[in-house]
Amino acid sequence: EQDPRIEGIASSIRVVPNFPKPGIMFQDITTLLLDPKAFKNTVDLFVERYTGKDITVVAGIEARGFIFGPPIALAIGAKFIPLRKPRKLPGEVISEEYVLEYGTDCLQMHIGAVHPGDRALVVDDLIATGGTLCAAIKLLERAGAEVVECACVIELPELKGRERLNGKPLYILVESR
Ligand code: PRP
Repeated sequence: EQDPRIEGIASSIRVVPNFPKPGIMFQDITTLLLDPKAFKNTVDLFVERYTGKDITVVAGIEARGFIFGPPIALAIGAKFIPLRKPRKLPGEVISEEYVLEYGTDCLQMHIGAVHPGDRALVVDDLIATGGTLCAAIKLLERAGAEVVECACVIELPELKGRERLNGKPLYILVESR
């Protein structure tokens, strides 16, 4: 039996066909954010799961991991770090490239933001192919952190992104097809 809050979260997510290009069913979480109950329930479900797990750092992935990550970090008493697209962070960074349908993209993290012994939770709105989360895990592990889990609001299970996470556990609230 699933948590009764999940249904309201799922129904608050708008699916926009053919955005940003033909054939893509875009999962739009801005409508979830317009529903304060659904937004609070989303954050609460993650906070309940990660309270007491000795998580020391929440890493949010640009851009929508910056919406869900910080309230989780504050509630569980962890630091927050942004994992950003190239040329956004002003300090010294480490980078991980990942493959997209056409070309590559890259995530960067500030050196010194995490340390060996840190226990990390990676947060994003959605996992599709898993390439983005895979790059995030590598950045954190290169800095010596232990990635405890990845957490997303939405999974597209048909893309099997979960299999690209090198055995790291993935927790999701909603599956979409
Ligand atoms: C989306 C989503 C994830 C990523 C998942 O971001 O928010 O970060 O794609 O895809 P993957 O599992 O196939 O790697 P997007 O590429 O739209 O970037 P943005 O958040 O900067 O707009």
